[in-house]
This record gives sequence, structure tokens and C-alpha cells, in this order.
Amino acid sequence: MDIQTIKNRFGIIGNSPQLNFALQVAAQVANTDLTVLINGESGVGKEAFSMIIHSLSNRKHNPFIAVNCGAIPEGTIDSELFGHEKGSFTGAVDSRKGYFETVNGGTIFLDEIGEMPLGTQARLLRVLEAGEYIRVGSSKVQKTDVRVIAATNKDLLQLVQLGRFREDLYYRLSTVPIRVPSLHDRPEDIHILFRKFAADFADKYKTASVQLDDEAKGLLINYPWPGNVRELKNIAEQISVLSEDKHITARQLSKFLQPYSTNRLPAVTGAQVSGGGPDFANEREILYKLFFDMKKDVTELKRMFLDMLQNPSGAAQDPAFLNGLKELKSGENMQPVYMPGPISASQNLQPVLVRNDDIHDHEEVEESLNIMDKEKELIIKALKKHKGKRKDAALDLGISERTLYRKLKEYDIDE
Ligand SMILES: Nc1ncnc2c1ncn2[C@@H]1O[C@H](COP(=O)(O)OP(=O)(O)O)[C@@H](O)[C@H]1O
Ligand SMILES: [Mg+2]
Repeated sequence: MDIQTIKNRFGIIGNSPQLNFALQVAAQVANTDLTVLINGESGVGKEAFSMIIHSLSNRKHNPFIAVNCGAIPEGTIDSELFGHEKGSFTGAVDSRKGYFETVNGGTIFLDEIGEMPLGTQARLLRVLEAGEYIRVGSSKVQKTDVRVIAATNKDLLQLVQLGRFREDLYYRLSTVPIRVPSLHDRPEDIHILFRKFAADFADKYKTASVQLDDEAKGLLINYPWPGNVRELKNIAEQISVLSEDKHITARQLSKFLQPYSTNRLPAVTGAQVSGGGPDFANEREILYKLFFDMKKDVTELKRMFLDMLQNPSGAAQDPAFLNGLKELKSGENMQPVYMPGPISASQNLQPVLVRNDDIHDHEEVEESLNIMDKEKELIIKALKKHKGKRKDAALDLGISERTLYRKLKEYDIDE
């Protein structure tokens, strides 16, 4: 089946080379029983890809099930996947079949595979290598014929290095890797996706389709889309339902986008801007980098100050010190800081000159620069923001619910 037919049949929109390549690989491996590992950020269409692969395979009349490994508590995931015997643990009043039994002949999609506990990983490896599994609390080996498609938004190799993911399982899973591109890597697809969703929702809600003016289109394309296609679809729906006026300006559109699209903090320094614009995908990394840089500068300043106190005449002769003074006076050491301008200029990040020492002035705040402290603070903030709803907080933090749960324990945070 050619790519265009697949797109039409499964409602896949977009024409970027990366997306086409991913679809082509999916189509090629669909009719084999090979294990597929789908990689990509949240909301890029990983689950949609898994369904395409199943539907194009000769298992298509057999069951398909999607299991989110990050959402099942560690204590029950083995039983959910492989089943259990009566009495095998407290609360196991009956025996139960697992998905590898009920889906026999079909396909299991294991989403967020990076969150799978190590013990479960060992059981999964056995299924993949020998088609065998054992129910929890049983000693009887059972056979199953299930095709596994796994997905992750993590770098599994990194998890392997951290000892959180089995190396043998990693290589077994990634027989066929498919990378689904993020929306910000295929800006050419953003507007056609929006138009398609807007048309679908106009149909659904029986109204005229919303139309973006040129400035709004620019804003749409330059927005970083951390939630990818899922976020774009949600926003298209909100606008379709809530906008009385079907002609959407940038100002109207901006109300629906996350506030940081037009006013992000902290400002990103020039040195970190590459390839024409800052990569907002890893906001936290930028934050940490900024904190580290600040800490380095503060330490350096302290050292200079101590030197001066201990050796008042010497310091004044120190060429580095004198140079520093000169730079401060002449403003040579000013660096451009990129700040998103007002909406109308949002396509261009506007450099604003900020004195380096403006940043250093805040030394007396004595903020902790420890990554773990920062992480704890972010978690508490996210929980507060989402009124204690872990699911939403985890989504906002870009981690799974299970990871959030682990960190709550680790940092001893009571909600
Ligand atoms: N290329 C695409 N064209 C149309 N809709 C898409 C496309 N990619 C993803 N979607 C839609 O976006 C939403 C999120 O996709 P999903 O497969 O759940 O993402 P992921 O599993 O990567 O988080 C779904 O509603 C899906 O149908
Ligand atoms: Mg998903």
C-alpha cells in the first residue's frame, strides 16, 4: 500500500520527509511479526502508528490492546500483563488472565515502555525470545503468540546506562526502530494539520470552519507545540467551539496558546541560541544551565572580592580585575538576551541588551542551585498549579505518573 493511501485511510496529515519515512517503515514491517520500537515526544502519533501497523498486518482481525506501562502501579503490572493465580498475593481472590493470554494472536502496544519495572522487563524478554510466560504465583509455563509494539518518549539507551532498563531487552525491542518526528521539526505540516482539525470540528459542531489570518498563521507555526499534534488538535477544537468570529487573528489565537509562547522566562542568552532560534523543547535544561552559569559567575565574583580584601593593593594591579572593571565601565561585557517580542513580532526573537552584572546583582537571594532542590520545587509548584492532581502535574512536568509518585516519595513531599 502506498503512503498516500495509508494517510487517507488512517487520517494521517502531513507531508514532511521525516513523517513519510516513518510511515514507509511502518508499512514495510506491518506484515512481519517483528517487534517495533516507536520513539517520539508525547502527542506525535506513536499510538496512531501502532494501530496502523496492526491494521496493516495479518493479525488485523485479532485483538489489539494498548497498555500504558507508566500508568499501571508497579505492584500490579505483572498480573495485568501475564495474569495471576488465585491467592498469589493479598487480594487475589480469583485467578485472572493477563493481556498476553487474552490478546493471543493479536498485537499488544506497550506505551511508555521506559517506565516498565525491571522485573516485568525480564518477563517481557522471555515472551519476546521464547513466546513463553508464567502467571504470577504459578509455575506452569504458557505459550503465547503476540506481536509487541513498544513506544517511548525517553532515550532508552540512557535508561540502560542508568541501570533502569535492561540492555538485552533494549536490543530485542529495537529490531525495527521508528522515529515519529515532533511538530517543531516539521513546521510545514502545522498549518495543514490545523486546517484539517478545524474542518473536522466545524463538521462535528455544525458551524463554519475557523480561518487564521496571516499573522495568526505565523504565530501558529512559531509556537513550540510541546504537546505536539495532540495539543494542536485540542486547540483547534477549543477555537472552533469558543470563537464566535470565525476569522481568527494572532491576538485571539494567542489566548488559546500556553502563555510561555509569547512571554517566556527566563530569557535565553545568545550563546544558547542556535540554528536561528532557541529550542524551547527543553525548557528545564535551559533553566538549569542558566543557574549553573550564574553560580559560576557568583563564585568568580566572590573570589575576586576576597582577593581584593586580602590584598587591596594587589587586586588593583591584577590585569584580570582591571579588565573586568574596564568592561563594566564600557559596557563591553553586555550580552544579547533573546526575548520573544510582542505577538505581532513573534516570528522574530528580539535581542535585548542586558548587563551581565544585572544578573549577578541578585546574589543576596542565596537561592539553592542544587538540581534536586529545583526539581522538588518544580514538583511542588506543579502539584499546586493542578490542585494536587498528579496526572495533570506529571503531564505538565513531562514525566510519567509513576515517576512523579517515586519522586514524591524520594523527596518526602506530602500533598
Ligand atoms: N499526522 C497526524 N495526522 C493527524 N492526526 C494525528 C497525526 N499524528 C497524531 N495525530 C492525532 O494526534 C493525537 C495524539 O496522537 P497519539 O498517537 O495518541 O500520540 P502519542 O501516542 O505519540 O502520544 C491523536 O488524536 C492522533 O489521532
Ligand atoms: Mg500516547
